[in-house]
Amino acid sequence: MKLVIIGSGYVGLATGTCLARFGNNVVCVDVDESRVSALRQGEVPFYEPGLSDMMKRNMAEERLSFTTRMTEALKDAEACFICVGTPSSQDGGADLTYVEQASRDIANAMKANLKANAQNAAPLLVVVKSTSPVGTNAKVKKWISEELGDSGVEFVMASNPEFLREGSAVRDFTEPERVVIGVDSEMAEARMRAIYSFTEPEKLIFMDIPSAEMTKYAANAMLATRISFMNEMANICERVGANVDSLRKAMALDSRIGGKFLYAGCGYGGSCFPKDVRALCDFARASGYDSRILTAVDEVNVRQKEVLYEKLSACFAAGGGLEGKTIALWGLAFKPKTSDTREAPALTLIQSLLDARARIQAHDPRAIDETRRYLGERQGLLYTHDPYDAVNGADALVVATEWDVYRQPDFERVRRLLNSPLIVDGRNLYSLSEMKKAGFRYYSVGRAAV
Ligand SMILES: NC(=O)c1ccc[n+]([C@@H]2O[C@H](COP(=O)([O-])OP(=O)(O)OC[C@H]3O[C@@H](n4cnc5c(N)ncnc54)[C@H](O)[C@@H]3O)[C@@H](O)[C@H]2O)c1
Repeated sequence: MKLVIIGSGYVGLATGTCLARFGNNVVCVDVDESRVSALRQGEVPFYEPGLSDMMKRNMAEERLSFTTRMTEALKDAEACFICVGTPSSQDGGADLTYVEQASRDIANAMKANLKANAQNAAPLLVVVKSTSPVGTNAKVKKWISEELGDSGVEFVMASNPEFLREGSAVRDFTEPERVVIGVDSEMAEARMRAIYSFTEPEKLIFMDIPSAEMTKYAANAMLATRISFMNEMANICERVGANVDSLRKAMALDSRIGGKFLYAGCGYGGSCFPKDVRALCDFARASGYDSRILTAVDEVNVRQKEVLYEKLSACFAAGGGLEGKTIALWGLAFKPKTSDTREAPALTLIQSLLDARARIQAHDPRAIDETRRYLGERQGLLYTHDPYDAVNGADALVVATEWDVYRQPDFERVRRLLNSPLIVDGRNLYSLSEMKKAGFRYYSVGRAAV
């Protein structure tokens, strides 16, 4: 099948590459010319395990290509997937500017192609993959129809929210736990079944379009709720002398609860949970419903991102505060196995430390370039390519991302390199007894201080 992917970010590039791997002829369109020219050279603009090799293989086998030209891309295409960003707007709602632009571009390309080829084949299937509020598919349909006017061009719609996770995007797409598809026509359903023929049919969950749009938000909100809930438990544990790890292990064995997303820490980040929870609150409010749980989930998370700074501040309060102190920071990405730093807790900490006139020596295995791009050069913020260089001469070490490389460091070396043996751990990577034995002052989340 000829398929077009609009937007070549994390979702678009993974989707396009994987669909090419299953034998489709895929053209990825992006408005960012520098991104497209890098992709044409085989360069993936972010770190995603396994994606680069698969992309290059499919390009070499001429099933995958990149362009900025929508009309050319859509010629003879059977389906196109809208995978552009839907960032938070000022009021927390989803900003649909890119979706609208993509929709209008699709319509104009369809019209141009109709002129070039009067015997156009079956109607194009337009699939919205971007996470977007209930009602977005209807808006996309309206925007496309407005541009098409009375041209006679036909199209059908589907909602197909994406559930892949950064860090395991290729596997998540090629071996999905389920694929959610919203349709309102038999033609769209048949075409989606054909596109997803690589998946067991029972994993394709068909429903109406608003339910598909809503499912994505509900799933992300559920996961974010579990994290904020456990962070709330951790904060209470710290105050009453309980250990959140013990709680978690016991709770996880309850089959009604299960063990996933029960880890307390310094808050969730990334391009999805924060914005999707806020967007769900926003469109619920617009429909007349005030979601108290989800408002609290977001508030708890915003506050949780401050805990690293609060713990550090408390440690240095007696010694004149953080001004002039050097803090080693392990981890910039919002989670391991990605270079993505969007809404990462580390960025909140960096800002607070810079405001307090502390210096930062930061390490991350993959996210330094992206952090530099995002924050620009900042006085007092230094990046190191070795985790031990970050620690060298620092007054404390903070762990903000649970990369494997930080799990079993040479503690003796860390202690020698630090000015004082102080670790603040936002991911509870180390055991309290190990820290005690290694001679550190150690503060984690929801557990006693050592
Ligand atoms: N990142 C994830 O893990 C993830 C997972 C599931 C769902 N999603 C959702 O998928 C969507 C895309 O997320 P992402 O992380 O891939 O975004 P991204 O910001 O990495 O990529 C978006 C791309 O779209 C391009 N673009 C913008 N407007 C365009 C237009 N009119 N035509 C063509 N290209 C255009 C941008 O240049 C950019 O390359 C969002 O709605 C997001 O919530 C993301």
